[in-house]
Amino acid sequence: MNITSATFLKSVMRIEECPRDGRPEVAFVGRSNVGKSSLLNALLNRKGLAKTSTTPGKTQMINFFDINRQFYFVDLPGYGYANVPKGVKSEWSRVMMAYLQRRETLKLVIQLLDARHTPSEKDHEMLELLRRARVPVLLAATKIDKLSRNERTRNLKAIRADLDLDDDAVIIPFSAVTAEGVKPLWQIIASCLKSPT
Ligand code: GTP
Ligand code: MG
Repeated sequence: MNITSATFLKSVMRIEECPRDGRPEVAFVGRSNVGKSSLLNALLNRKGLAKTSTTPGKTQMINFFDINRQFYFVDLPGYGYANVPKGVKSEWSRVMMAYLQRRETLKLVIQLLDARHTPSEKDHEMLELLRRARVPVLLAATKIDKLSRNERTRNLKAIRADLDLDDDAVIIPFSAVTAEGVKPLWQIIASCLKSPT
């Protein structure tokens, strides 16, 4: 994909504030600190466009990025330990779930999993929710640069088994550090953006 423009559009706290121009969009989900904002930046080759941090809970609200004036990337808060009051956290969770389940222009959700760990209960719940909502999901195993060859093979296999994936399901190994995985992710994103539903 040739990125001619990538700009922050807005952060919204309510579903009604999401763009209404009908452009397709791709959203990124995963636990706090797994590397959602970093992956988004790596895909766009724009460091610092989406704010990243070593402290979990960096991304707040639903953040829309306008790409090529054609589609949106949507950066979401991580599930898990966002460093905010409980009430605010449950409000975000409610809005995010409503967004994921009801947004008609959502063509693809990229769910990030930390390549170093077995998926958590929350990872399972998220995947289940997306499946029930019939949203196309693509799994990416992030921070793959932190693993040796052997660990990588072993962990990817363990993640597949843990999530009970079909043989034809794909997990894209990804690193925001080496940019491994950028090309295969774009291939799938591009084909989903073109799909009619
Ligand atoms: P929240 O917004 O808090 O939910 O986090 P996030 O999922 O957006 O994570 P973010 O992109 O902010 O990254 C969290 C930390 O992990 C940062 O310190 C990143 O530099 C680091 N990180 C992200 N991706 C990678 C990766 O592929 N490899 C390595 N080694 N570090 C990464
Ligand atoms: Mg983030």
